[in-house]
Amino acid sequence: MDLFDFPDVAMDYDFFDEVLTKNDKSFSKQACEDFHISITDRFNCKKVLDIACGTGCPMISLCRQGLDVTGVDNSQAMLNVLNQKLCEQKYIAHLVCSNMSNFDLQTQFDLTIIARSGFLHLTTTEDQIKALNAINHHLVDEGILTFSTNYPNFELLAKALHGIKNQLEAEFQNSTGNFVKIFSESIIDPETQTINSKWTFKEFNAENELVKVRERPLKLRFTFPSEIEHLLVICGFKVLERYGGYDYCPPMYPGNIVWLAQKVGNSKIF
Ligand SMILES: C[S@@+](CC[C@H](N)C(=O)[O-])C[C@H]1O[C@@H](n2cnc3c(N)ncnc32)[C@H](O)[C@@H]1O
Repeated sequence: MDLFDFPDVAMDYDFFDEVLTKNDKSFSKQACEDFHISITDRFNCKKVLDIACGTGCPMISLCRQGLDVTGVDNSQAMLNVLNQKLCEQKYIAHLVCSNMSNFDLQTQFDLTIIARSGFLHLTTTEDQIKALNAINHHLVDEGILTFSTNYPNFELLAKALHGIKNQLEAEFQNSTGNFVKIFSESIIDPETQTINSKWTFKEFNAENELVKVRERPLKLRFTFPSEIEHLLVICGFKVLERYGGYDYCPPMYPGNIVWLAQKVGNSKIF
């Protein structure tokens, strides 16, 4: 089980995501939605696959544009939250609970998206290659792929080598009205290029009494930009452009990298 497999985390996701992205407007939900709408316009995409779609950013905004959208996520808890939103807003989309490293939808798309941090959840090179191969297989010729990674942050990694404890990630009010503080502790494994974290959710009632404590694991992989370039080439893609965020700003260490790639052939590795 990883962070987003837990129903309580899925229920709270939209609330803490807003807090986590509030200091980075170029990675906010709004910026992410606007970016992907502009990509569908630019490449005239009608059929879109949103992988690691979570609770629906940017998927719901693409449904609003009248596009034919399919969402894949391996967390049924996240898909349940998304399904409820789709029902409330009366949008129809296909939702599939599956691992992005191993899926077969028997159809092809004009555009595949892995928005915000979805790709970081692939914790081995093998899984990254399997996911890119599956995406290649599900794209029409010259189909488009966008996904994001980030520059490995050397200062942060150096600290996490010895373990970081009690880091306050976010404070927010959840759907029940309670206040929640998220604390994290993390340690890196340089061999596997993974960051192994534990997020502790401490929930307080209106009287500021601690009413719940939940510990949830999170494992992410840090991948260097040149690795991504190589992976894309061997999996049958060419890089069209790279941005530092969903507002099209230039990439800059130690920030995010939004990749825009195009299918140029079949994968050369299996
Ligand atoms: C940070 S959320 C991003 C969700 C959404 N795209 C957004 O921008 O708000 C990451 C999502 O990736 C999903 N995920 C993680 N590993 C996955 C995998 N191997 N296959 C499919 N989905 C995965 C999680 O369940 C979670 O919903």
